[in-house]
Amino acid sequence: MINKKGCGFDVVSGGELRRALHVGADPKKIIFSGVGKSYEEILLGVQNNILSFNIESEAEVYRIEEIASSQNKIVDVGIRFNPEVDSGGHEYIKTGRKGDKFGISSNDSILEIADYIYQSKNLNLVGLACHIGSQILDLESYRLTAKNIKELSINIKKIGHKLNFLDLGGGLGIPYENDKTPSPEELISIIEEELIDIDEMIVLEPGRSISGNAGILLTTVEYIKDNFLIADAAMNDLLRPALYKAKHDVWNLKETKTIDQIWTIVGPVCESSDVIAKEHRINADEGDVLAIKTAGAYGFVMSSNYNSRMRPAEVLVDDETFNIIRSRESFDDLIKNEMNLND
Ligand SMILES: Cc1ncc(COP(=O)(O)O)c(C=O)c1O
Repeated sequence: MINKKGCGFDVVSGGELRRALHVGADPKKIIFSGVGKSYEEILLGVQNNILSFNIESEAEVYRIEEIASSQNKIVDVGIRFNPEVDSGGHEYIKTGRKGDKFGISSNDSILEIADYIYQSKNLNLVGLACHIGSQILDLESYRLTAKNIKELSINIKKIGHKLNFLDLGGGLGIPYENDKTPSPEELISIIEEELIDIDEMIVLEPGRSISGNAGILLTTVEYIKDNFLIADAAMNDLLRPALYKAKHDVWNLKETKTIDQIWTIVGPVCESSDVIAKEHRINADEGDVLAIKTAGAYGFVMSSNYNSRMRPAEVLVDDETFNIIRSRESFDDLIKNEMNLND
């Protein structure tokens, strides 16, 4: 659906690239980001003539150049830089400060790399990119990012490159509980204020703000113990609370007048961090089905089979209609890649 709406794709692995191609995405709308692109992943992107590889280290420049040369191609690349912006939020989802693992932190190195690419027979610099973090609630971080990307692009163009795009990444925050979050319109107007006079196309890579609130995780209360609601979903299904101490709103699907109190909702996994929601006020009883909200981003894709738990089915709901789009995992699925265990 996203493809049909005309969006492009920002991918960070060969698997994501193949998924995008699989649904018929236009390769000229695919950008490949990520710090650790393997030889095979780059080759796949080169062979499919994608829009750009966002280069995240000097070493990657040489690898892409070597692959481009082996394929007799001129490959379009962008450079991902760190604009030294602290986007707020949890430490694990900040990505745009100097010294973060993503992007290139030194502007001098970026200019040297741009110069190297300018001399290269097999590379063509077409863009400048950054991604400052995720779940960003303060739009001033984007203003600063826009100012920084513009300034650096001017210096790169002095080397002789004509850039086609400036890519400001994703990160727009969404409401998980009652948070007040900025709208896409507000984000665009800040970017327009700062970049109204540039010639390059502006690329944005929003992920969570497209899908986050389109998904819920349903779970049944198995047991009540003290102040715990023990549910049948766990951290292997939705990792965000355990990974980032993230908060999700939880509703009871039944209009119930049962036990209204402050609960800690936990799953069955053998980890004390397996908490879905801490101190959450809700009416609930054993057997009730709860909806864990805003699970459409960083939800199923982060799930695992930890504790040999089989992942749930996925159901796509459209108004009054629904379809199962991924079946519930079976025990056979769980063990299908295991072999030679009896030796
Ligand atoms: C390079 C890049 N762009 C975009 C995104 C999407 O971020 P969000 O889902 O916060 O919009 C990510 C997420 O990790 C990313 O790494």
